[in-house]
Amino acid sequence: MNTITAVLTDIVSKAFADCGYESSLGTVTVSDRPDMCQFQCNGAFGGAKLYHKAPIIIAQEVADRLSQIDVFVKAEAVKPAFINLTLSDSFLTSVCAEIAADEHCGIPQTEKPCTVVIDYGGPNVAKPLHIGHLRSAIIGEALKRLARSCGMKVIGDVHLGDWGMPMGLVIAEMMERHPDWRCFAEDFDPDKDFIAQLDVNELNEIYPLASKKSKEDTDEGRAFKEKAHEITAQLQNHNPGYYALWKELVNASVSDVKKSYAKLNVDFDCWYGESDADRYIDELLGILESKGLMHESNGAMIVDVAEESDKAPMPPVIIKKTDGSILYDTTDLATLIQREHDFHPDYVWYVVDKRQALHFEQCFRCAKKAGIVSPETSLEHIGFGTMNGSDGKPYKTRSGGVMQLSMLLDTAFNSAYERISKDGFESDEQVRDCAQKLAIASVKFGDLINNYAKDYCFDLDKFLSAEGKTGAYLLYTVTRICSVLRKMNLENGEIKLGRIYTDSERELMLTIAQTGEAFKKALAERAPNYICENAYQLAVAFSKFYHDNHILSEEDSEKQQAWISLCLLVKKLLLKHFDILGIDAVERM
Ligand code: ARG
Repeated sequence: MNTITAVLTDIVSKAFADCGYESSLGTVTVSDRPDMCQFQCNGAFGGAKLYHKAPIIIAQEVADRLSQIDVFVKAEAVKPAFINLTLSDSFLTSVCAEIAADEHCGIPQTEKPCTVVIDYGGPNVAKPLHIGHLRSAIIGEALKRLARSCGMKVIGDVHLGDWGMPMGLVIAEMMERHPDWRCFAEDFDPDKDFIAQLDVNELNEIYPLASKKSKEDTDEGRAFKEKAHEITAQLQNHNPGYYALWKELVNASVSDVKKSYAKLNVDFDCWYGESDADRYIDELLGILESKGLMHESNGAMIVDVAEESDKAPMPPVIIKKTDGSILYDTTDLATLIQREHDFHPDYVWYVVDKRQALHFEQCFRCAKKAGIVSPETSLEHIGFGTMNGSDGKPYKTRSGGVMQLSMLLDTAFNSAYERISKDGFESDEQVRDCAQKLAIASVKFGDLINNYAKDYCFDLDKFLSAEGKTGAYLLYTVTRICSVLRKMNLENGEIKLGRIYTDSERELMLTIAQTGEAFKKALAERAPNYICENAYQLAVAFSKFYHDNHILSEEDSEKQQAWISLCLLVKKLLLKHFDILGIDAVERM
């Protein structure tokens, strides 16, 4: 179904046309002055210029026309020339009833079928997930669910970092620790030889160590780095021993990473990695070559992507290094060829730290120049800001180290567990389940409520507070609704909206009627914060409604029925918001 402003725009446009004016003047928006009216149209100002008439006259004519239909309880022209609109209760009720009956809960569906590939998560094999990966996972997952609920075909791809120098470093270190492993022997045979199962904890410990070692300014450090380089190159050439070990590394790492993602309600349609782009490298080189885009510079192969209008320096894309090895840009370009082959997407969204903006700008320009994607394909870097600690610097552990995701989630769980009252639960297991959901909801909502591009401060106490714009407050609101419905024995009752009895009820219904706007805006701006904001507005309007109207003790059964129906509808909508944000509701807290 259409958003409320789209429906009203149609109605007001028709009124403009009926009065002899251009119908495109009838755009309706949510009111800037909610104290005066619910919606407004400023088209009379434009009409004045077009028709050389006093704007207030046009506004008055159109408002008179609108007053005749029962959509509005009030349609008035206000100086200088605003048309202020307030819906009639019957119209407002019919809109809410339509939302209640709509299979998409009033979320406007995209007009044309279209496909989007969302590249998010981006974990690196053999490196534990750290909090930088948290934002990509949370935001990307919300965008995936949002786009899907708006009717787009969506493919979420984790784009595993599994093919670069880190792999060589890890394998080099393993070689030093376990020189006797068969995979390091000259005569390794992948069909006969056996690769030991790898221990994830050892893996997580190896990379930081190997990385540090390779940076040491000693003969040993340099030799180690050299070795890792060589291994990387050989791995990329499918050396059987390294390749077999690498596969095990990927398996062990992926199953570990999947556990953290599962806790966050994050999952992917594709588990492709940088390594999967490998088979498209030749095609990429062929394209760049045949179009004459690639040239040599100091032994490396590069593509120029600077444009005259550039205000900041735009370095060329390095496709191949002097030693023939490929780089991050190369894999991203080859991956685009793969995506074009597999999905032919209309959009590719990269949910990656905004500090990688230059990399993506270079890749996008190169991809367009080379015709890897059509000019219409929209390549977008959804660059997010940093999660900071209270000191305004990137969030760290107490000892100042990189905060690992699992550690952060454990901390959130422990705080949530402490906070929830244990009454009403039958077992500790239930309490733990609730604490887990509360922790995840708080962390995710605390992140998503901020526009993705902004840095924000990770403040667990604030996120877990049952007041304010928090996941905890939203979970709490739903438990409150559930409790009313439980007491009435109407948890799965039918939504039958009647007439409107009180102001707070009307306010709540107006908020409900506007949810479609939030979804539309969130999709258009790729910004889940509008979903969070709308969920919060719904919860606030519900709280006021709940406070003002005594649902359980109401004696007029029609009134009670109308109010229960609103409870059911708000619950349904909030659960839809939760679903998109990847948050689980709880029965009690
Ligand atoms: N693995 C990368 C990192 O940790 C993120 C990958 C982002 N996606 C991409 N297509 N480059 O920084």
